[in-house]
Amino acid sequence: MNNTFRDKVALITGGASGIGKATVLAFAEAGAKVVIADVLEKEGEEIARSIQDKANEAVFIKTDVSDTTQVRSLIEKTISRFQRLDCACNNAGIEGENALTAESSEENWDRVIAINLKGIWLCMKHELQVMVKNGGGAIVNMASVAGLVGFQGLSAYCASKGGVISLTQTAALEYAQHGIRINAVCPGIIRTAMVDRVIGGDPKKEEQYTALEPIGRLGKPEEIAKAVLWLCSDEASFVVGHPMVIDGGFVVQ
Ligand code: NAI
Repeated sequence: MNNTFRDKVALITGGASGIGKATVLAFAEAGAKVVIADVLEKEGEEIARSIQDKANEAVFIKTDVSDTTQVRSLIEKTISRFQRLDCACNNAGIEGENALTAESSEENWDRVIAINLKGIWLCMKHELQVMVKNGGGAIVNMASVAGLVGFQGLSAYCASKGGVISLTQTAALEYAQHGIRINAVCPGIIRTAMVDRVIGGDPKKEEQYTALEPIGRLGKPEEIAKAVLWLCSDEASFVVGHPMVIDGGFVVQ
């Protein structure tokens, strides 16, 4: 444990898998008390237990980030358990269906926007109320390179991620003077359950996705977690409203 975040409380949504899980473990390793919010109860509980086994404090709170009541309750439970909230990584997200714009369904649009965009707004809304009272904090929202460039077949996903960047910039301006720094991260293609679902075990697809990355490989969840921690740390004390691209060179090609 390196103790950079000792006595700090960090909340990570979508913390039961992939990038969120790596972020939870990185915050715990850095000495933070961790709140894991996710819809995956078994996985979330297991991660919380594995952290508690190492004598760190962690709690899993089952939460659907698209539901107002559940998000309000998540923040209330966080405060009642730890009395403060210093860092939040609003990471929960889904890829949705893969279909061209004219062929995609309204249900898909509503669900992707509800989780990926409204979910982040809802979480920020309640996190910010606490952080303003605390007198400071740091928030990192999970955007994507898909918020910067188009991906065929993913119109709702791309729109949601573009929205996350815009929302992050606006909220960052609004709360900078409260000592709250709000930034976003835009990962390239990262090897997680989400990407495994898209590749579907097809070696040809795997090769195609890898070829999209100039660095010659897919990213690792830990490579995103490190950036989230840095953005939440005092090392990033002058970084505000930044959509940080971590993508193996994807968007500059
Ligand atoms: P993942 O599927 O491994 O993890 C997503 C987590 O979010 C899961 O634990 C899932 O249960 C949770 N989740 C989904 N809907 C939820 C809801 N309504 N309420 C609470 N939790 C919910 O996927 P991954 O890759 O770790 O994705 C994490 C974030 O990173 C997402 O926002 C994704 O869009 C973003 N991202 C991922 C990239 C990749 O290549 N894997 C690239 C760029 C961004």
